[in-house]
Amino acid sequence: MPSLTPAQVLGGLERILGAEGLLTGIAPHSQTDLEPYLTDHRRLYHGHALAVALPRTVTQVMDLLAFCDRHRIGVVPQGGNTSYCGGATPDESGRQVVVSLSRLSRVRRLDPLDYSIVAEAGCVLADIQRAADDAQRLFPLSLGSEGTCQLGGNLSTNAGGVHVLRYGMMRDLVLGLEVALADGRLLSSLGTLRKDNTGYDMKSLFLGAEGTLGIITAASLKLFPKLRAFATAFAALPAPRAAVDLLARLRDASGDRVSSFELIPRIGVDLTTRHIPGVRDPLDTPYPWYVLCELTSPRAADPLEELLEASLAGALEEKLVLNAAVARDQRDRAAFWKLRETIPEAQRLDGGSLKHDISVPVASIPDFIERGSRWIADNVPEGRLVAYGHVGDGNLHFNLNQAPGADRAAFLAREEPVKRAIHELVKDFGGSFSAEHGIGRLNVGELERYAAPVELDLMRAVKRALDPNGILNPGKVLRSN
Ligand code: FAD
Ligand code: MLT
Ligand code: ZN
Repeated sequence: MPSLTPAQVLGGLERILGAEGLLTGIAPHSQTDLEPYLTDHRRLYHGHALAVALPRTVTQVMDLLAFCDRHRIGVVPQGGNTSYCGGATPDESGRQVVVSLSRLSRVRRLDPLDYSIVAEAGCVLADIQRAADDAQRLFPLSLGSEGTCQLGGNLSTNAGGVHVLRYGMMRDLVLGLEVALADGRLLSSLGTLRKDNTGYDMKSLFLGAEGTLGIITAASLKLFPKLRAFATAFAALPAPRAAVDLLARLRDASGDRVSSFELIPRIGVDLTTRHIPGVRDPLDTPYPWYVLCELTSPRAADPLEELLEASLAGALEEKLVLNAAVARDQRDRAAFWKLRETIPEAQRLDGGSLKHDISVPVASIPDFIERGSRWIADNVPEGRLVAYGHVGDGNLHFNLNQAPGADRAAFLAREEPVKRAIHELVKDFGGSFSAEHGIGRLNVGELERYAAPVELDLMRAVKRALDPNGILNPGKVLRSN
C-alpha cells in the first residue's frame, strides 16, 4: 500500500480524535506545544513527532492503532514521562505519533469489599492512592514520582518503589488489564478474580513491555487494608553489612511488618541538605551509612514504635546501629522521607551523573558495594559513588556523580567503560542490570548482551506475534528490524 503523506496522516488522525484531540507542529499549534512530549525526564533523548494524540476514549485508542497499523506509522505511548530509559520518547525521524494517555484518567470502579479498584491508564498514581485511601483502603505502589507518573507507565515499566519488600512490584498488584492491540482489537479482561487458571496468562505479557506489545487503557488492581500505625526510623550504620543484618532482625522481630527499608549513604545526606530546600540531617553528627526503615500495620493499636525502638536499642548495644532518630509525628516522618526521595533530584542538581539500576540477592549487597566501590575508587577519579536504594529488595541505584571540580563532559564520557564494569560485576553476582527502570531505548544493547539467547528469541517471537508490522514503540526493548 502506498504510504500516506504527512498531511494525509494528520487528516486521518483528526478524523479519529477530533481537532482538540491532536497536537501538531503546524498552526493553530506550534512546535512548542509538542516539546514536553519529545524529551525524556533525564534529557538523554530529544525526538521529533508528526503529532501528539490525546485520546479521550478507549475506542479512539483502538481506531488510532488500527489506522497506524494499516499505514505502518510508529506509535509511542506516553504516560507521565518520568521513566529513566527513554522508552516514552519518539525517535528523531519526525514520522512517529506520540499517544499520551493523560486524558483517559477515570477511576471506573472501586469496591472496598472486593479490595479492588479499576482505573484508566492516564490516572496519576497519587490519585489512585488517594481514591483508595478515601475508601479506607491502601494502594501500596509508592515512588518518588507518584505525583506525576501514570498507571499506564507504572504497568508498562513494572514499577518498583519503596514498598516492594512488603507488597511486591506493580506486576504483583494487577488483577486484570484492558489493552488496545496493534491491529485495533481490544483485549478486555478487567475482572477482579484472585484465582483464574484458564490458559496462558496474557496480561503478564503487557506488564513491563514498555508499550511495545499494546497500549494499556485500564487495569483492575488489588487493594489492601489501610495502614493506621507507622513507626519510622532514620538509623546510622557503620557499613552496608549492618543494614542487611538489621533488616533480617526487624523482619523477624516485627512479624514481617517492615514495609520499607532504604539504604542511604552519607553523600546522599550531603547532597540533599545542600540542594533541596527544607532537608535537614536528622542526626547531629555524620555517619558513613543510614537506613530509613518503616514498620506499618493496619491496626492502629499495634505497638510498632516500641517494637522498633527495642530492636534499635539491641542493635545499638551490638554496634550494628551507631545512632538513630525515630519519627515522633507525621512531620518527622515526612522529613525523613523527603530526604530519601529527593536524592535523585539532588544528584541531578549537583552535576553530571551515571545511573545503574541494579539488583543482586539481598545478602550479597554488602559484598557488591565493597567490590563496586573499590573499582570506582581505583578507576574513576572524576566520579564519586552515590549508592542508595531499596536494599530490602536487593535493588541499588549504584550511581556516580561527577566529583567536585571534575569536567562534566570528561566524566560523562566514561559512561561506557563504567557501565561495562558495573554490569559485569552484577553478572558475577547473579544479578540484573535493570531492576526496576526497564530497558527503553537506553538498555537495548545491554539486554542483547546479557539476556539468554533463548529468552531473546522468545521475546522477538512474542513481538512478531502481537505487533507484526512493528508499529508499537519501535526500537524500544528490542531493536527494530
Ligand atoms: P512514561 O515515562 O510515560 O512511560 C514509561 C514506558 O511505558 C514507556 O516505554 C512508554 O511508552 C510506556 N507506556 C506509558 N503508558 C503506557 C500505556 N498506557 N500503555 C503502554 N505503554 C505505556 N521507578 C521505579 O520503578 N521505582 C522508583 O522508586 C522510582 N522512583 C522515581 C523517582 C523519581 C523522582 C523519578 C523522576 C522517577 C522514578 N522512577 C521510579 C521512574 C518512573 O517514575 C517509573 O518508571 C514510572 O513507572 C513511569 O511512569 P510514567 O507514567 O512516567 O511512564
Ligand atoms: C529512586 O528509588 O529514587 C529511583 O528509582 C532512582 C532514581 O530516581 O534515580
Ligand atoms: Zn528506585
